[in-house]
Amino acid sequence: MIAGALQRLGERVDRAQKAIQEIYTARTKTLGGAYQASVERRDSNVRRDSASPCPCPCGRNENDGKLATVMRFARPFVSNLRLVGIRRLLTHGLLVVGCSPSPQDVVDDAGRSTTNDADESASEVGTANHEGSGSAADDAGTSASGSISVSDGTATIGDRETEGEASTGDNQAVVDYATLREAAAAAGKRIGVAVRPDLLAVDAEYAAILVREFGDVTPEDSGKWGVLAPTPNTYDWDDMDALVDFAGTVEQAVKGHTFVWHLQTPSWVSESMTADQLNTALRQHIETTLDRYRGRIRAWDVVNEAVNIDTESGYTESVFFNVLGPEYIENAFFWARAADPEIMLIYNEVGIERMGPKSDFTYDMIEDLLARGVPIDGIGFQSHVSTHRYPSETDLRANIRRFADLGLVVNISEVDARTRAVPGNEASRWQAERVAFQQIVGACAVEPGCEAITFWGVTDQYSWLNDDGPEDGLIYDRSYLEKPAYRGVMDGLAGFLPTRGANRLTNADFAAGSEAWSAVGGQLAVGPAQGRVGNAGCVRGRSGATDGIVQDDLLDDLAVGGPLTFSTWVRASASSTVDASLLITETGAEPYEFNVATIVVPSGAWIELNGNLTLGFEVAPTAIGLKVHGPGAGVELCVADVRLQPLSVDTGPR
Ligand code: XIL
Repeated sequence: MIAGALQRLGERVDRAQKAIQEIYTARTKTLGGAYQASVERRDSNVRRDSASPCPCPCGRNENDGKLATVMRFARPFVSNLRLVGIRRLLTHGLLVVGCSPSPQDVVDDAGRSTTNDADESASEVGTANHEGSGSAADDAGTSASGSISVSDGTATIGDRETEGEASTGDNQAVVDYATLREAAAAAGKRIGVAVRPDLLAVDAEYAAILVREFGDVTPEDSGKWGVLAPTPNTYDWDDMDALVDFAGTVEQAVKGHTFVWHLQTPSWVSESMTADQLNTALRQHIETTLDRYRGRIRAWDVVNEAVNIDTESGYTESVFFNVLGPEYIENAFFWARAADPEIMLIYNEVGIERMGPKSDFTYDMIEDLLARGVPIDGIGFQSHVSTHRYPSETDLRANIRRFADLGLVVNISEVDARTRAVPGNEASRWQAERVAFQQIVGACAVEPGCEAITFWGVTDQYSWLNDDGPEDGLIYDRSYLEKPAYRGVMDGLAGFLPTRGANRLTNADFAAGSEAWSAVGGQLAVGPAQGRVGNAGCVRGRSGATDGIVQDDLLDDLAVGGPLTFSTWVRASASSTVDASLLITETGAEPYEFNVATIVVPSGAWIELNGNLTLGFEVAPTAIGLKVHGPGAGVELCVADVRLQPLSVDTGPR
C-alpha cells in the first residue's frame, strides 16, 4: 500500500517538477541574462558566510528540488501531519535524505543542466554530514541518484528539541534547498520581502534575487497613502503598478501595505478635517485602491501600528485616532471587506512579537474587534528586532499560538535586525544576526498558525535601518552576497531552532537553598515555590524597583560573548513590571545594565519571563551578574527555575 502511494506520489512529483521548471523558465525570460547571471554567481559558491565557508552543493542537486516537491505533495498523503511531523517520519527512517558527495550534473533554477565543480565541499559534506548519500532509487519510481531514498532503515537526520530542556541534539538542516522560495514551499510557509519597485528597472541583480528567492512581495513604501496620493484625489500608481505587474509575471503574490498609518499619510489628511470628511477620504482611498488591484493582490495590511501603550488611551495618537477615535480601525476593515470580499485583511503592528503589555493590549483589542464581527483575517508581527534583544523561542511561539487561536493567520511581517548594539566585528555581528533569524523563522516554521515571513528588504545596500548608521540587518550584504543569516533562514525554514547549551547559572532551581544567589536590598528567603514544583527564591522587604535577586559570578562563563537564551518563572505580590538584566562591569567604568527581558506580571501568579540576546565586548569585562528586579517598594518578588543558556547553531560545512 505504501509502495502504491509512493508510486503515485512519484508521478505527482515529476509533474510538479515540470511545472516548477516552467516557472523558472518564465522568470529567466522576464529577467533575461540578469537572472541567469545571478544564478551562476550564487552557484559559484562565493558566499559571505564566514563561519560556513563551504556551502553544500546539495541544494543544487536535482533531487533536492524533488525532495522539496515530495514534501509539498506528501502532505495530502499524511493527513493532519504537519510538516514537522513529516520531518519526524524522515527522522524515524521512513525517508532517508542526503546529498550526493561527488561532482555531478545539476539542474539550475531555470531547468538547465550545468556542472557542479564544488568538489571539495561536496565530498566533505557527503562524508561528514549526510548519511544516506550514495546512489539509490526510491520506491516512488523516481530516479534518486543519492538524494532521496526510501527505506525502513535507521534514522539519519538529526532530531532536536524545540522547547524545555537544554538540547544537545543535532540541529543541522540536512535538507538543503536551492532557494528560500523552495525551502519555504516545502515547509508550507510563504516567504516574502519588502520591495522598492524603482530598483527593479535599474538593478538587475536586485530583481534577480527577488525573483529567485521570494514567493511574496510587499511594497516597502509605494503602497502607503502619502506616496500614492500626495495631493487630494490625484493618484500616482506608477510604482505600485510596476510592482504588481512584475509580481504577476514572475508568479509572486503581493501583500499591500498599508491603508491606515500615522506615518506617510498625505499632508492634506489633517486634523482640520471634520470626522465626516476624514471618514469619506479614508473610505474612498481604500475603495479606490482595492478596485484598481482587484484579483491581483492577495492581502493588505489594512491598519498599521494603531497601538501605543505609552499614551493614555493605549492607541497611537494619529490624525485618525484624534479625529475619529478608535472606531477608525474597525471601519477601515469593514470598508475594505465591502470593497473586496476575497482579499485577506491584516492588522499589522510593531513590537508585539514578544509577549508583554503591548502584545497583550493588541491581543485584547483584536479579540474584541473579532467578537464584534470586524473582518480581520490576519495579524502581522513586524519583528524589527535587534540582535541584543529579541523574543525567545518560547515567547514567540506562545504569542503566535494565542493569535492563531483567535482564528487569525500570523505573519512575521517586517523582519530585520539591528546588529550594532553588541560590540564586535562584522563576523560576530553577522553570526548574531544568523542566530536571531534562524530562531524567528524557525518559530514560524514549527507553528502551524504562522503563515508567512516577510523580510524588510533584500539587501543591506538599501535597508531603511541604515538611515541611522550601518546596521546591516538583512540577509544579503551590500554586494548581494548571502550573509550567514541566509543559512539561518534556510535552517529555520527546515524547522531547526538554535540549540540550547547547559545552564550557566549555579543552583538555578534553588535546590541547594540560597547558594550562589543574593538579594540586592531586602532579604532573600528560599523555600518551596507555592503553586509550582520545586523551590523559589523570594526577596522581601524591597525598598524600590532596583532591589531584587542576583547571581553575580558569571564572568567566566559569559565573558566570551555570544548568543544566549534566558528564561525564568516570576511571581510578585502585586501586579508589576519585572525586568531581567545582566549587570556588566568593565574596568574603570560603572556597571551597566543590559536588559534581557521585561514582563508585566499579575498579582500573585507565576508567569514565565524570557528573551534572547547576544553579548559581545570591546573591552573584557571584570564582572558579569544576572539580576531580576522591577516591582515597586514592598512588593515581594520570587523567581524559580532560572536559566541562562548559550545558543548555538551548527556552522560547519554542509
Ligand atoms: C519604512 C520604510 O522601510 C522606509 O523606507 C520609510 O522611510 C519609512 O517606513 N514599520 C512599517 C513600515 O510598517 O512601513 C516601515 O517602513 C518600517 C516600520
